[in-house]
Amino acid sequence: MANPIRLGVNVDHVATLRNARGGVHPDPVTLAKLAVEAGADGITMHLREDRRHVRDADVERLMAEVSAPLNFEMACTAEMLSVALRLKPHAACLVPEKREERTTEGGLDVIGQKAQVAPVVRELVAAGIRVSLFVEPDPEALEQSALMGAPVVELHTGTWCEALHRGDDRAADREFARLRSGAALAKRLGLEVHAGHGLDYASAETISALPELAELNIGHYLMGEALAVGLPETIRLMKAAMARGAARRAAA
Ligand code: PXP
Repeated sequence: MANPIRLGVNVDHVATLRNARGGVHPDPVTLAKLAVEAGADGITMHLREDRRHVRDADVERLMAEVSAPLNFEMACTAEMLSVALRLKPHAACLVPEKREERTTEGGLDVIGQKAQVAPVVRELVAAGIRVSLFVEPDPEALEQSALMGAPVVELHTGTWCEALHRGDDRAADREFARLRSGAALAKRLGLEVHAGHGLDYASAETISALPELAELNIGHYLMGEALAVGLPETIRLMKAAMARGAARRAAA
């Protein structure tokens, strides 16, 4: 059976490594091509306000040179909206962004920041860009996401993954229950369900058993593993883990 879940590979860390030396190597677009050849279904790039990893030219080259769909991660700002409307990526994932954070922390506050988020969703949807909202798996956030007219939500898996890494089984079970019921509610609300943040082979396998899941977006772990075994092998192993998890759907 074909793998029912797409793997989006986030190449931001390749740009982080490049920028550490200030040169052109390693190139995130070259690694994105390699990822697609190895089975990635899409590529994610987060163009941050401070351009700390990916730069505008990387996104432009990716769109020109890589056939797989781009999931453009962006903050809800006027500047990023204009970049997205100019480049017209396949998808745009709206995320919260703070200058001082090391990576995206927490989901987008679609309730408190409705006035900022809703117009951005409207403009992107009107431009034919598939919008996803990176949210906590909470009923209020999911209901608000559907009301705003976003077709997709990406459930934030970071809290669950942190609990798994701490070995805190009770917290991990509680967080996974939130993800399970969040995915089910999102589907009932007519939303396509994606998930991401902090996933590794084991957690990707576990979450792939959720029947609503259509896509996982993964970066840090894949790039770390690629240092040891190479990116193509890492992607092959990740897709195999996702397929094992998805196979449990049929068995459930
Ligand atoms: N999804 C979103 C919305 C993110 O912001 C990130 C981190 O850039 C990821 C997925 C990937 O997280 P990780 O790098 O931990 O796999």
